[in-house]
Amino acid sequence: MSKQPRTHVSNVLVIGSGGAGMRAAIAAHDAGSDVVIVGKRLPRDAHTVLAAGGINAALGTVDPEDTWEQHFADTVQEGYFLSDPKTVELMVKNAPRAIDELVEYGAEFARTGDGKLDQRYFGAHKYRRTCYAGDYTGRAMLYALADRVDELNIPIHEMRYVTQILVDDGVCFGALAFDINTGERTVYLADAVVLAAGGHTRLWRRSSSRRDENTGDGMYLALKAGAELADMELVQFHPTGMVAPESLAGTLVTEAVRGEGGRLFNADGERYMERYDSERLELSTRDRVALANYTEIQEGRGGPNGGVFLDISHQDKDFILEKLPRMYRQFMEAQMLDISESPMEVAPTAHYSMGGVVVDPETHETSVTGLYAAGEVTSGLHGANRLGGNSLAETVVFGRFAGEHAAEYSWSLSAQHRSQEAIQAALDDLDSLIKPGNEMARPLQRALRNNMWENCGVVRHEDKLYVALDIITAIREASENLDVRPSSEGYQDLALALDLRSSLMSAEASVLGAIERRESRGAHNRSDYPETNPALRVNFITQLNDDGKLFVTRRTVEPIPTQLQRWINDEQLEVEGRLLE
Ligand code: FUM
Repeated sequence: MSKQPRTHVSNVLVIGSGGAGMRAAIAAHDAGSDVVIVGKRLPRDAHTVLAAGGINAALGTVDPEDTWEQHFADTVQEGYFLSDPKTVELMVKNAPRAIDELVEYGAEFARTGDGKLDQRYFGAHKYRRTCYAGDYTGRAMLYALADRVDELNIPIHEMRYVTQILVDDGVCFGALAFDINTGERTVYLADAVVLAAGGHTRLWRRSSSRRDENTGDGMYLALKAGAELADMELVQFHPTGMVAPESLAGTLVTEAVRGEGGRLFNADGERYMERYDSERLELSTRDRVALANYTEIQEGRGGPNGGVFLDISHQDKDFILEKLPRMYRQFMEAQMLDISESPMEVAPTAHYSMGGVVVDPETHETSVTGLYAAGEVTSGLHGANRLGGNSLAETVVFGRFAGEHAAEYSWSLSAQHRSQEAIQAALDDLDSLIKPGNEMARPLQRALRNNMWENCGVVRHEDKLYVALDIITAIREASENLDVRPSSEGYQDLALALDLRSSLMSAEASVLGAIERRESRGAHNRSDYPETNPALRVNFITQLNDDGKLFVTRRTVEPIPTQLQRWINDEQLEVEGRLLE
C-alpha cells in the first residue's frame, strides 16, 4: 500500500450508508450538489436493515383521530420532557411526507384491505401510527433508499473507515478514510460533511447491534471535530432481546410482537405487567417494560436462560408469518423454536442511543461550521425514553434536512476551505496506531462491554459508575500497547483499534453523564436517586477541552410552545411503581 493518499472532491460528503445517510445524500443531490457516501459496511447492510417493527407518522389511516400534535405530545411526554420541542415538532410534522417519499422510492409497506397504509400499535402511542413492512421495515426502507441512490448515480464508497473529520479554524472541509480491505487512504475534500454514523449501543454486553457497528465512532468523530454531545447517558434498553444462544444474546425481538398481541410472563406464569402498568400492560413505555423485565429477572422469577417469557402463541401461525416473519424464522433458525407454539425467552438489551451530537433543529448543523449530522448519532428528539418507530422516522426526516442544508451551505461558499496541516495531522495519527504490541483489540472491547453492562446498565449507582470510569481508564492504558498489523488479510486490526479508541471515549461520555444525572428518569435508573428531579430537566452537554479531556456542563431544555402544551398530560411524569434494586 502506498502511503500517499488518494483525493476525492465533492460538495457534500456523507459519512454512513444507513437510512439517515442515504436520505441525506438524496436530498443533497436533489439540491444540486455533487455527493459521495462512505460507509464502513456494505451499502445494503447498514444497521437500518435490522430495524424491525416500524416507522411512525400521524397519518390517521387506521385511527383517524390521530394528529401530529398528539404524536408530538406522546413523544415529548414519554421522553420525560428532555426532548427539544422544536426538533420533535419538525419530526412529527414532516414524518407523513417522509413516508410518501419512501413509498415513491419503492418501499412496500403493509396496506389495509382498502389499500391504505396500515398502522400498528407500538408501546405508549395513543393511536396506531406505526407503518410497517412485516417485521422487516428497516430493510424495506433501506433497500428503497439504496435503489434511489443507485438511480441517481450517487457513488457509495463501501468498507471505508473514517478516521477523522478534517477541520481547520472551526471549519469542516472533509474527512480522512481508509479502505478496510486494502488499506488505501483517501482524503475526502468536501464543502460540507453530513455525519450519519449511528450510535454507541454496541458498547454494552447485551446489544441489538451486530459486531463492529454502533461502536460510538460517530460520536468520537464529532467530539474530535469540536462538536458537542448531549445526554450520552440516555441509552435505551429494549425490553426484549434474545437470551440464547450466547452468540446471539441481545438480538432484537421486535416490539411488534407485543404490538400484535404478545404477552409477557415470568417463570411463575404471572402476567406481571399488570403490576407495573395495569392499563397499558405490554404496550407500556419501553423504559417501564425494560425495567419490569429486568426486575423480574433480578428478583429470581426468570427462566432457565435468565430471561422472561414473551408469548404470541395464542395467535395462529398464518397471522404470525404475515406480521412477524423475521421473528418466526429467527427463533426457528437459532433455537429450533416454533413461536406459534412456544413462548420466547427474552431480556433487556442495549438498543438505541438517545443522546448524541447536538444539532440545530432546523438545519441539523453542529456547532462546527460545515458539519451536519442526522440519525442515531444525534440528540434532541427522544429525551429519556424513545418511542418505538420514531427512530426510523428521524432518519428520513432529518436525513433530508441535513442533506438539503449541507447543499445550501456548499452553494453559499465563495472559496473552499482546506488545510494541508490538518490533513497531515490526520495521516500521522493513523500511522501512529500501526505498530506491534502486547494487547489485542477484541478482548479489550469485550472488557469494555462487560464493564458497561455491569456498571452502567439498566440500573445504575454512583459507586458502580466510578468503578466503570476506573475500568475505562485501565482499558485505555492497555490499549496504548495494541498490536496493529495490517496484513494480506486486510486492515481489520486497524479498524478495531480505531473502534476501541472511539468506544472508550463514547463510554466515558456516557458514564460521566450518568454520574451527573442524579435522578431516575426514563431509561436512566439510579438506585441511589430513585426519584425524578424536576430541577434536572436539563441536557448534559459533553465536550473535549484543549487537553483532550471530556467535561460535562448542563443546558436547560427549551420550553414547550404554549399552543402545544394543552396536548400534554403532565401526570406521566410520576415514577411511582418503578422498582429499583
Ligand atoms: O422493536 C422494534 O421493532 C424496534 C423498533 C424501534 O426501535 O423503533
